[in-house]
Amino acid sequence: MKTAVCPGSFDPFTAGHLDLVERAAALFDRVVVCVMVNGDKRPFFTLDERLELVRASIAGVPQAEARAFSGLLADLAAEEGACALVKGVRTGGDFDWEFQMAQINRALRPKLETVLLPARGEHLHISSTMVREMLRYGQEEQIRNCIPAGALPVLDKIRERIRERK
Ligand code: PNS
Repeated sequence: MKTAVCPGSFDPFTAGHLDLVERAAALFDRVVVCVMVNGDKRPFFTLDERLELVRASIAGVPQAEARAFSGLLADLAAEEGACALVKGVRTGGDFDWEFQMAQINRALRPKLETVLLPARGEHLHISSTMVREMLRYGQEEQIRNCIPAGALPVLDKIRERIRERK
């Protein structure tokens, strides 16, 4: 069984991320979507919220599962028995960064491959940063275009909780 890991901050998971997971699921038997805990970033959504959004988004992809991890991707891949990391690239800037990460991960675990999938044209403008901006300014129609349909009810519940927290 060939397992791939799709890692990210997923703050939040977007339609572009779901496309990547679906395409990874067509290439591998099992896809582990991993919400990474990154000490350098202060996320907008909590780890539990990000995981809940990922799980709701990938519910229609039977080979995909979600988990969280704090540490090196190379260690996570070993723990999951994964042969590849799958990342999406939208721009030359993304490519430069992911190319560098691929070299580091190969140095850490020589047999671990990095597979870079080019984003679809319709997802080029979608990023978690952009979605957070849309949430801040209440751009409902845009939010609905950028978040997987399965995650929208979960997102609404989380937004309600965030409003109550304020
Ligand atoms: O969605 P993002 O923020 O672009 O994801 C970046 C992420 C979490 C995949 C990246 O920061 C990462 O791989 N973090 C884990 C730590 C690691 O393995 N770093 C590379 C070796 S130093």
